[in-house]
Amino acid sequence: MKSIIIANWKCNPVEEKEAINLFESVKKGVKNIKNTHIVICPPFVYMPRFKGVDMGSQDVFFEEKGAYTGEISSLMLKDLGCKYAIIGHSERRKYFNETDDLVNKKIKSALKSGLIPIFCVGETEKERKNKETEKVVKRQIKKGLEGILSSMLNNLIIAYEPVWAIGTGNSCDTAEARKMNLFIKKILSDNCNPQLSEKTYILYGGSVNSSNAMGYIKEAEMNGLLVGGASLDSNEFIKIAKSAA
Ligand code: PGA
Repeated sequence: MKSIIIANWKCNPVEEKEAINLFESVKKGVKNIKNTHIVICPPFVYMPRFKGVDMGSQDVFFEEKGAYTGEISSLMLKDLGCKYAIIGHSERRKYFNETDDLVNKKIKSALKSGLIPIFCVGETEKERKNKETEKVVKRQIKKGLEGILSSMLNNLIIAYEPVWAIGTGNSCDTAEARKMNLFIKKILSDNCNPQLSEKTYILYGGSVNSSNAMGYIKEAEMNGLLVGGASLDSNEFIKIAKSAA
């Protein structure tokens, strides 16, 4: 399997000029990296300006069109040439009250229009302290994928992103990430078709940088990484992409 390295720029940068510079340096730096697939998830407004690297959105609306002020549908994104959609990121769950049911609707809508969902799961610090990690991740996956045919699993990416590791510099150790990787595979194979679930990409996200990236690929056997803060520095992101190759 080719590793997939995804940049989640979140709500950055503020100026288009800066966004274009960042995009162009990443594009140039990753051009000759083999065995790694690069995806950039910029704010919606910059998407039409970027060509030559696969694009993902940071969210998606669940209806195709209609009177839903402020929303952007998966059909619109698909039409723009976008291939992936981050869904259920912990910041959406926390600041916009996204529930497992809403995440499920968004995943269905993305799959229906041919976008590949990057479905984020992960426990908060409190849940981790209460030893609820597995329970929470299992609930998120089962509810998030409810009613979705197992044949769609090879069009799906799951990103394990422990919330306590996001943007904190406290990355998850590789042994723990490996354990969660195997746990997620088991949930998929117990609940879906085991052969198809083998094809689902499982990524790690949470304070990934160029020093820890390789450990998640080699030791934790992740199929790739979802990179937030470090993706805003083109040199750092290129180093991460190289170390996963
Ligand atoms: P981080 O964010 O790399 O800044 O921790 C990861 C994410 O939120 O996807």
